[in-house]
Amino acid sequence: MKEELRKLEQEAIGELKSVRDEKDLERFRIVYLGKKGLLTAFMRRLGKLPPDQRPEMGRAANVVKARLTSEYEKAKQRVASHRERLEAVLDVTLPGRRPPRGHLHPITMTLQEVCGIFTRMGFSIVKGPNIELDYYNFEALNIPRDHPARDMQDTFYVSENVVLRTHTSPIQVRVMESQDPPVSVIAPGKVYRRDSDVSHTPMFHQVEGLLVDRGVTFGDLKGTLTHFVHQMFGADTALRFRPSFFPFTEPSAEVDIECVICRGAGCRTCGQTGWLEILGSGVVDPAVYGFVGYDPEIYSGFAFGMGIERIAMLKYGIDDIQLFFRNDLRFLRQF
Ligand code: PHE
Repeated sequence: MKEELRKLEQEAIGELKSVRDEKDLERFRIVYLGKKGLLTAFMRRLGKLPPDQRPEMGRAANVVKARLTSEYEKAKQRVASHRERLEAVLDVTLPGRRPPRGHLHPITMTLQEVCGIFTRMGFSIVKGPNIELDYYNFEALNIPRDHPARDMQDTFYVSENVVLRTHTSPIQVRVMESQDPPVSVIAPGKVYRRDSDVSHTPMFHQVEGLLVDRGVTFGDLKGTLTHFVHQMFGADTALRFRPSFFPFTEPSAEVDIECVICRGAGCRTCGQTGWLEILGSGVVDPAVYGFVGYDPEIYSGFAFGMGIERIAMLKYGIDDIQLFFRNDLRFLRQF
């Protein structure tokens, strides 16, 4: 029994060392010192010993009980002071720290907003390749090799017949090639031009629009784009259609909105004109139908293309396009 008592004592002391909190403490107390605990059970068995052994074992058991009780008290203090120290530096009632959370890039947000306005009007979204054949980017859009309009866009050539698309208009041709009218699509995507300053980057985003059906007129184009401008910039934003030229539309028009900075009074942003250009558009030139096999006697349509960075700059009042691509969090967090 002596050996048994020694073991019990050793085990108990060992276990006390690993006590970390009030729960551990209470478990220890019940297992070793409680009324149904191991030490109590041991002492009960003393009565069964021969009378001459009882006093010695009894004393020994009492010594162990006293030692375990005092070690238990020490452990209790250790746990209590640990908790006090913790609470001095840590307010457990404070809400936790949230991990930082990102959000969409302002260009992505603007793209989605523009696409949303047109999909609600019934347009569906299509995509095309960023690396494009000269044929789709230029030829089939009525821009032959020697045409001066090629100078409007300084092109990155991959090879003689392959370019990084300079606009999203080649998607018009791909769509018409693959389906018959009626067609109503918008095509968002990246485009590339050799240009870089405060208002140009070598890569930027456009959203193209194309609608072809029987009896489509310039009036439909005006109505559609007027609705777009009112949705995007507010119903009280004035706009105008200014005659322009694109080889693949006739007649063509650029759309200006009243300057968002000076509200039309004239300032530096709008070059004192009171107007800001936001997109190019026009009635699809019958020459383009020749490339895709549509009959211009039956069908007519309109197309438009807008630069998303420019729209985002006007919408959020940003004066440097390069900001969108520097990925400075101080800038991006404002959206
Ligand atoms: N593709 C023209 C550009 O990038 C914009 C445009 C699209 C004009 C469709 C008319 C019709 O400038």
